[in-house]
Amino acid sequence: MKVAVGSDHAGYPGKLHAIETLRQLGCEVEDMGTHSDASCDYPDYAAEVAHRVATRQADLGVLCCGTGLGMSITANKVPGIRAALCHSDYTAEMARRHNDANVLCFGSRVLDERMIDQVVRRFVSTPFDGGRHTRRLKKIADIEKLPPA
Ligand code: RB5
Repeated sequence: MKVAVGSDHAGYPGKLHAIETLRQLGCEVEDMGTHSDASCDYPDYAAEVAHRVATRQADLGVLCCGTGLGMSITANKVPGIRAALCHSDYTAEMARRHNDANVLCFGSRVLDERMIDQVVRRFVSTPFDGGRHTRRLKKIADIEKLPPA
């Protein structure tokens, strides 16, 4: 499985933990930056990772900023992206099972190392349930097709 990852400066330490976990799981990791803790803008990295996933150059994405909020808001602007801000192994599991989320977002200033490991593991290893959830995802996709109000 190929996973595109990205962070801003605040998410940089969390991204390094996530990459370690992804590699332990045997994932191919594509790191879209940032590559230091120098101040930068999270939308640049969210857009990069979201496009990799939306164009199927990556199977999943992982995005990390201070809170995970800016990353999830930005990634969800890209058609085809279902970015989920997760803070526990339960929310990570449900993001995959019910929402077929294709980008995991988390806050490096919110989760500790142990929880980052758990959230990433659960997200990557949980399949979509399908069934009634497919109908709901289609309703989300239909909203993307509406002309601007
Ligand atoms: C950076 O200070 C911080 O605003 C950013 O990492 C993120 O938390 C935004 O949502």
